[in-house]
Formats: sequence, structure tokens, C-alpha cells
Amino acid sequence: MTKKFYITTPIYYPNDIPHIGHAYTTLAADVLARWNKRLGKEVFFLTGTDEHGKKIENIAKEKGKEPKEFIDELTPKFKEAWKKLNINYDYFIRTTDLEHQKVVREILQKIYDKGDIYLGQYEGYYCTGCEAYYTEKDLIEGCCPIHKKKIEILKEDSYFFKLSKYQKKLLDLYKKNTKFILPENRRKEIINRVKEGLNDLSISRTSFSWGISLPFDKKHIAYVWADALTNYYSATRINGKEKFWPADIHLIGKDILWFHTVYWPALLMSAEIELPKTIFAHGWWTFDSQKISKSQGKVINIDELISIAGVDSARYFLFRNNVFGEDGDFSEKSLIDRHNNELADKLGNLISRVSALIEKYGIEKTPNVLIKKLNLKNIENLFENYELDKVLNEIFRFIDFCNEYVQSKKIWETKDKKALYELKESILKIAELLSPFIPESAEKIINQFSAEKIKKCEILFKKI
Ligand code: MSP
Repeated sequence: MTKKFYITTPIYYPNDIPHIGHAYTTLAADVLARWNKRLGKEVFFLTGTDEHGKKIENIAKEKGKEPKEFIDELTPKFKEAWKKLNINYDYFIRTTDLEHQKVVREILQKIYDKGDIYLGQYEGYYCTGCEAYYTEKDLIEGCCPIHKKKIEILKEDSYFFKLSKYQKKLLDLYKKNTKFILPENRRKEIINRVKEGLNDLSISRTSFSWGISLPFDKKHIAYVWADALTNYYSATRINGKEKFWPADIHLIGKDILWFHTVYWPALLMSAEIELPKTIFAHGWWTFDSQKISKSQGKVINIDELISIAGVDSARYFLFRNNVFGEDGDFSEKSLIDRHNNELADKLGNLISRVSALIEKYGIEKTPNVLIKKLNLKNIENLFENYELDKVLNEIFRFIDFCNEYVQSKKIWETKDKKALYELKESILKIAELLSPFIPESAEKIINQFSAEKIKKCEILFKKI
């Protein structure tokens, strides 16, 4: 039986065009999806948009539009961006899809029937930018800790989910399944917070209407996070993808860890649905040390990102520059430096030198001793542990070695056809391993080096 691999990205708010932060998670999922396909697994890669809630309703109103009309203009921008970045997702879910709404209602009904939902009144803080409830101690000088804006006080009828009831079960889950939350430091962070205690969660709102009405009380609109999180499961119920549940990995940014590691598993436990296997939180990109976001600091949109050094160099840079899981600072200069020094000088140089030498002298089949310098097992393990930056380090260590091999063997003098055969085979392996990161360039390399007659390659990465 072929192994399955189900990977998801957060579903993004279509309140504006996508930026580098959204691209980062989606690209990471693309890299992992491509890698797992290479391993022969049957892959389902899901992304989409989170279209309900007060935040969307407010912005649409500001623009003088109906919410649906507003998001219908923005959602295609996400699809276009992913296409430009060569991201091959399998399904794009929108929370306004009727099938999704049906599943949200079904799950909430199930939780309600179980007695885990009760009617009450929410009185407290709420940040519409985050679509999140806050307590006094979360605030910084009366402001939302993320948006740094004055926070709203809500007082309205609301249904509550008995989250507090799941505290022990959640702690058991984190303890028993050490891969449920990754990286490890995030896991510890969540364990400490959950140990402090959990309040029941307000899961419906009555002061606006843009959302999914509760099946047991139509006056109430489902809390947008309960609606949104369900997408991961509902997408498997659409198009006969049931067999992919539970997800192997929900890839997210660290900003939304709490929702994914506390609310989501508790809701699933209550609905008696199997839990996802891993929630992996990556770090934030900053720009001049400021979070990249529209509300604060600088935004780099997809066209800007691509225009610096092309799609593959952008894809490469994002995973080479930061430890996957930690924060990193974006600058055009560091992207260009890596494009020039690594893709052009190291990889590009190897490809053009070796292809030129093969065109001149040809190859002769021989056992490939050179490839023994490539630690394939380690690369597989690193992929398995989502250490994407280290995967690239390992591949580039081998590229360096191949370049040195050409030097030390002085092939331009010795015309060593056997060494050229080893280099050809090694380059094919390098291209295969790099293909999840730089799919277009890798394909070109593979085509050129698997040709009957190998010719000097055109320059793959022009220096900037
Ligand atoms: N709609 C919710 C997610 C619901 S998932 C059930 C949401 N959307 S969002 O549009 O704000 O996107 C958040 C995600 O975008 C983050 O979790 C992260 O994956 C990505 N990023 C947004 N800004 C980012 C950076 N500056 N750096 C890295 N990733 C960031 O939250």
C-alpha cells in the first residue's frame, strides 16, 4: 500500500494581497510535498483562504463592498501568487465553500450533542485583527500584544466550548506524543501555558453576521477560528479525500500556534475525530527587524520577491537563510548575495564547467566513488525532521566537494572521462535533491545531464 502524506498551510485571510510571510509557509509546504512525492508517497497538499469573520466584514465595509464581493476579488490573488512561485498545491479550500460550511455545522452539532457546548455571555477583550480573545494579563499597556492597537471590549451572548475540560487530555497528548508540537521549544512553551489553566472558549458571536450560523441556534455565528481550523478536516470530506485524514503535518507560523495546538485538538477530541500527527511552527520573517505585515513595517509582495533574483533563487533563499523554525531578517542584499555566491558561483559554476568538459572529452562509465561523499541518509533524516536549512547545507557541502574534485583531478589537463562520469552522476543526484527547492532549475539540469550527448549548459543563474 502506498504511504500517504497530507500537508496543510494555514488558510490566509484574503483581506489584502499575499506577501512574503504567506509565501514562506506555502513554499515550505510545497518543498515538503515535492520531497514526499519523490519518496513515492501519495501526497495531498492543501492551502486556501479564511474568508469569514468580523475582520473581513469590516474591511469589506471600509471598501464599500459586500464581504463576498470583496473576497472574490482577493482570493484569486493568492492562487495567482502560488502559481507564480511554482507551488503545486492539490486543493484550494475557501471557508465560504458550502461543503466546508456543512462540515463545520456537523462538527459543532456533534460537540453540542455531547454536552461540551453551553450558552453564556462573553465579557472581555477581543482583537479583531487577530480574531482572538485576550485576558488582562496578555495586554501591553491596554493594547493587543500583536497589533499594538487599543483593544475592544466585547459583551455579548455567546456559546462556550468546554475547553477547560480538556486541559489534562491535552497535557497527556503533548507528553505522550512528543512530535505533536514541533520544534521542541514551542512544545515546552505550550505545555507551560496549558498548565496555567484553560478558560472555556467562546465559540460564537452575535454582534455581526458574516460567518457560519450555528446549527442549534441560528442567531449565533461560529467563532471564525472554529470555522477556519475545521478546513483541514473538511477538505478531506470534499472530493473523496477522506483517506488522507489525519493530517501528517499542519505547517503554520508561530503566531498561530495556540489555536492549532490547544483549540484544534480539543475540538477534535470532543468531536471524536482523530488528531493530526504534527503541528510545526516556523519563525517570523522580519524586515529590518520589524515583523513583515501590513499593519506594521514593511510588506514585500510576491512580485517584488520574484523580481529580485527570480523564482528559484527566492525559494532557495527563504530556506537557506534561516534555521527552519526560527526567525530571520529579510533583505534584498542577502538574497542577492546568496544568489551570486551560492547558486551562481557554486552550483552554476559546477554545472557549466562539467558540461563543457563533457562536451569536449566525453564520459566513461565507472563506479561512482565521488557520490560516497554525499550523506544521503542524513539528508533523508533532516527532511524527516523538517530541518530544511540543514538539508541545503548538506547538499551544498557536496557541491563544494564536487567543485574541488574538478580542481584536484585537473580534468581540463587529464581529460579524465571516468571522473567526468562520476561528476555527471553526482550532478544528477544533486539536481534531484534540490528539485523540491528549485524545481525549474533542477529540471533543466536533469534534462541537460541526462541527454544522449551532453552539451555545455547555458548559464543557469546569471550574476546580479
Ligand atoms: N487565517 C488565519 C489562519 C487560519 S488557519 C486555520 C491567519 N491568517 S493570516 O493571513 O494572518 O496568515 C498567517 C500565517 O501567515 C502565519 O501563520 C504564517 O504562516 C504566515 N505569516 C504571516 N506573516 C509572516 C511573517 N512575517 N513571517 C513568516 N510567516 C508569516 O492567521
